[in-house]
Amino acid sequence: MRSKIVAGNWKMNKNLQETIHLVEDIASKLGETHAEVMVAPTFVNLSAAVSALESSMIEVVAQNMHFAANGAYTGEISAGMLKAIGIKTVIIGHSERRAYFGETDELLSKKVKAALESDLRVVFCFGEELADRQSGNHFNVVAGQLKNALFTLTAADWKNIVLAYEPVWAIGTGETASPEQAQEMHAFIRHTVVEGFNQEVADAVTILYGGSVKPGNAAEIFAKPDVDGGLIGGASLKTDDFLAIINAI
Ligand code: PGA
Repeated sequence: MRSKIVAGNWKMNKNLQETIHLVEDIASKLGETHAEVMVAPTFVNLSAAVSALESSMIEVVAQNMHFAANGAYTGEISAGMLKAIGIKTVIIGHSERRAYFGETDELLSKKVKAALESDLRVVFCFGEELADRQSGNHFNVVAGQLKNALFTLTAADWKNIVLAYEPVWAIGTGETASPEQAQEMHAFIRHTVVEGFNQEVADAVTILYGGSVKPGNAAEIFAKPDVDGGLIGGASLKTDDFLAIINAI
């Protein structure tokens, strides 16, 4: 059985006090779940969140990292620095990093390798833009993103890869892919992994859907056979919404 995961990507939201308050609120109200639950506060609040969640099953994950171990990279954070504060998982390739910070497939490939070499698990994000879908090029774009960043890995490396398919047109827009669109793409992604590696790797990899997941649409998206959970932005900033989404799995 693949792991089910619900991860909250808090992006550049919540200061220190708000972060501690939100993680404590979520942890105190979280009931039994078979899903792994993750939250990704901003870098400066990771340590505090790790401490606040010490006795919780909720995992604190990072939103980004640099590929180098250390050096003259002003403003950047390395895998080793994340590990030193108890982080075990990092999100790489979010569409906002690609769009606003110029992150290319080539750069992301380096980041993924550096994360895996440091024994971090990677939540790798990718997905097509609206124009790609409108022109019918979405499958090509998605396959290209996967191949360029992940297909030089070994089959063994995939144990530490989680995929997060996030169509850019659905992120923060309130417009969600339909459950059928999500399933169609997730099945295509799994098939692409079979072609690049093998059936065993493809069957084992958790594929999350992200893009305007809300309490009202989570259950029907998560019910699809190739959707193994969600990467949640806006709705993960409200305890009740995030918990309802976790309970939908
Ligand atoms: P959203 O963001 O849920 O606010 O659309 C998803 C994401 O960016 O991961």
